[in-house]
Amino acid sequence: MTDATRTATLTLDGKEYSLPVLSPSVGPDVLDIRKLYGEADVFTFDPGFTSTAACESAITFIDGDKGELLHRGYPIEQLAAQSTHIELCYLLLYGELPTAAQLADFTGRVTKHTMVHEQMHNFFRGFRRDAHPMATMVGVVGAMSAFYHDSLDINDPWQREVASIRMIAKLPTIAAMAFKYSVGQPFVYPKNAFSYAGNFLNMCFAVPAEDYVVNPVLEKAMDRIMMLHADHEQNASTSTVRLAGSSGANPFACIAAGIACLWGPAHGGANQACLEMLREIGTVDRIPEYIAKAKDKNSGFRLMGFGHRVYKNFDPRATVMKESADEVLGLLGIENNPTLQVAKELERIALQDEYFVSKKLYPNVDFYSGIILDAMGFPTSMFTPIFAISRTVGWISQWKEMIAEKNQKIGRPRQLYVGSPKRDYVNIRHR
Ligand code: SDX
Repeated sequence: MTDATRTATLTLDGKEYSLPVLSPSVGPDVLDIRKLYGEADVFTFDPGFTSTAACESAITFIDGDKGELLHRGYPIEQLAAQSTHIELCYLLLYGELPTAAQLADFTGRVTKHTMVHEQMHNFFRGFRRDAHPMATMVGVVGAMSAFYHDSLDINDPWQREVASIRMIAKLPTIAAMAFKYSVGQPFVYPKNAFSYAGNFLNMCFAVPAEDYVVNPVLEKAMDRIMMLHADHEQNASTSTVRLAGSSGANPFACIAAGIACLWGPAHGGANQACLEMLREIGTVDRIPEYIAKAKDKNSGFRLMGFGHRVYKNFDPRATVMKESADEVLGLLGIENNPTLQVAKELERIALQDEYFVSKKLYPNVDFYSGIILDAMGFPTSMFTPIFAISRTVGWISQWKEMIAEKNQKIGRPRQLYVGSPKRDYVNIRHR
């Protein structure tokens, strides 16, 4: 645990309390309030944890003002340009960039775990064909703890390692199976000869009737999309995984909880909601109408893919994603895609509008990703499952970091109670 560099003093009802100040390697200092309730008999109040550091972590750092995202210290822009998702998985899990031999060994271990237990095929058949793939994934990933009994003991480092590799390896297979099941096509088995991203594309788009050739442009774009969504500090779904893991729940159950949380439109579900919004706008002449709706508090409408709890500048992932959208649609000869034109014009107009400027609302990672995934042939219902595939390494890395902490304890927030004081039961005859 980080040592205090100085103390802050809180004065309450004439008494003073010292709060240790902990300094991070990068970012704002934190006030250590762990002893505050015991000494001063008061809680702190921070709904949504907007000003609360819930843990120590060395995995990812975000500077919301600078629009900076670092994974183990490496800027996302450099990783997106020079690395691969499987290499980023190694970096997030183990803390350092791998040597060539380490990367080859890690890639081999992940590749050999991409198949799922054959019995799981029957599990899919219990779902309706029109089930949202996220619903299927929550169920199937949670059920992994019913199949992989040799990697459930969280106190065994080796079992934690095996569970981590299995999750990273099998999520693309499970997501592809959920997609195939929803479109009534047969499951496609993983093939070890493909790259991580190429394997996912093949499992989604290959059919028995003809060979599928992985388009290298789409393969690179898919790999980059996976890298851009891999981890993001203590976002809602990662915090869900940590909280579930803090009770000692098995890793598969924790990841299933993360998938469930990611599904929400305020979080990972925004990529689907954003493309649906762009399609609903349809043409650039309708943009002012939607900008006005987004500014109208009573409309209940928000620009999906815009705004962020931490970034009060550009989301660096959105910048890379926008470049990738231009590149992929250009190479596919659909650079005049109407949805991309609407997205670019919407971004341009919003970034000149006082409402968005004053509230520091910029495009986030979900604003352009759907345009690329749509161009690849994915239905909008597959956008968040692809986010879940990518974020699995972030969830697992954060879970492993928490479980390995010496003084790890169950998460248990308190509350500001505003309900009824104690009162006696009234028999129904007297109500
Ligand atoms: C992800 O945490 C992460 O890191 C998440 C993520 C990750 O990688 O894990 O980055 C992935 O979830 C990205 C965000 C995807 N969600 C969306 O695109 C949905 C649309 N965005 C919003 O719902 C919102 O911006 C949030 C949820 C992302 C952030 O909400 P906050 O920080 O809690 O901000 P807020 O809701 O308090 O809004 C602040 C103000 C409000 O106006 P006031 O009440 O101050 O007058 O900004 C307004 C909001 O009404 N606002 C928007 C808006 N987002 C915020 N107004 C219009 N459109 C929007 N998109």
